[in-house]
Amino acid sequence: MRKPIKNNVSWIGKIDWALDKFHGDDYSVNHGSSQNAYLIEEEKVVLIDTVWKPHSTDFIDNLKKEIDLNKIDYIIANHGEVDHSGSLPQLMELIPNTPIYCTANGVKSLVGQYHHPEWNFKVVKTGDSQDIGNGKKLVFVEMRMLHWPDSMAVYMTGDNILFSNDAFGQHFAVEELFNDRADQCLLWEEAMKYYANILNPFSPLVKRKIEEVLALNLPIDIIATSHGVIWRDNPTQIVEAYYKWSQDYQEDQVTVIYDTMWEGTEKLANRISRELSLHSPNTRVKQYNLSKTDKNDIMTEVFKSKAIAVGSPTVHQGILSSVAGWLEFLKELKFKGKKAAVFGCYGWSGEGNKVLREELTKAGFETVDAEIKCSWNPTDEDLNKAVDVAKALLG
Ligand code: FEO
Repeated sequence: MRKPIKNNVSWIGKIDWALDKFHGDDYSVNHGSSQNAYLIEEEKVVLIDTVWKPHSTDFIDNLKKEIDLNKIDYIIANHGEVDHSGSLPQLMELIPNTPIYCTANGVKSLVGQYHHPEWNFKVVKTGDSQDIGNGKKLVFVEMRMLHWPDSMAVYMTGDNILFSNDAFGQHFAVEELFNDRADQCLLWEEAMKYYANILNPFSPLVKRKIEEVLALNLPIDIIATSHGVIWRDNPTQIVEAYYKWSQDYQEDQVTVIYDTMWEGTEKLANRISRELSLHSPNTRVKQYNLSKTDKNDIMTEVFKSKAIAVGSPTVHQGILSSVAGWLEFLKELKFKGKKAAVFGCYGWSGEGNKVLREELTKAGFETVDAEIKCSWNPTDEDLNKAVDVAKALLG
């Protein structure tokens, strides 16, 4: 069912309380999510985005209850990813000639996925606009690489609503929709997780785009995202947060991340955490076993950290697959301005630390020289090396 947003604008999406994974299994969803689509009923009727394919039938049935589908004048496809475009094939069977407004890359992505080059695409670029009557218009803003090359936002004049698509969203189900009605702790936790795990690689572009949009001096009363809350209470607070997060964000936190085979490397992790806390009591120290903690949630902790320590025992002349897989993900996220130390136990050949150091360097971390490389189980002498590791990470 529709939910009112402002004047003639309604939400008509899917609140997905049961969703627990996104992007295949690559993003953990701890508190549900939503795919937000919007219906504008001015002199022209506009549908902004749709929902993921599994919810297509419900979405179209709901839409039919609200409006004669043939009355839809324009469809806006802000982004071709399937969570927003997934209902288009079913919808376009019913209203095949309806114009679809999207970027040039949007056409590539939609045709590539759904194989309907005959759809009535209208390619738009930044600054283009479309009148929707009653003195209002939609202004298109390309959001290239935020987070796909096809991404776009739409600004509605008169009601001052920015339909931002993925930007400023969260995987977070909120039945009441609005940011002022949401659990604030969970909202900000999920907003940061979304930024760290999806948008961080594009931080320089985020900063530039925010500066570009702010320079336009547009009044913004509502930021209507495509996931999670709709920002209506002080909506620019999330823009300010993104601006801060886009500039090599860090807090006074150090995070120790490891996996262990027979507890030796875990003992090193425990001692490093203890020394970090002893040497800098004001620093927040956190420790995670990679096999027992969600990888996306650890990534949010890395985002907050000024330094990390990463440990793995040597196995088959390399490192544990849990750590190797996570480091691959770490490389993709392009963190900057953070230090890293390595540690690990070995029984025979001992290549683990070297591999960890190489991978962390490739991931953009400044690796410190201090490390703990420990044969078999750690002795007091091995454990005492945690002092140098802690000092190097805090220094
Ligand atoms: Fe929510 Fe990039 O799709």
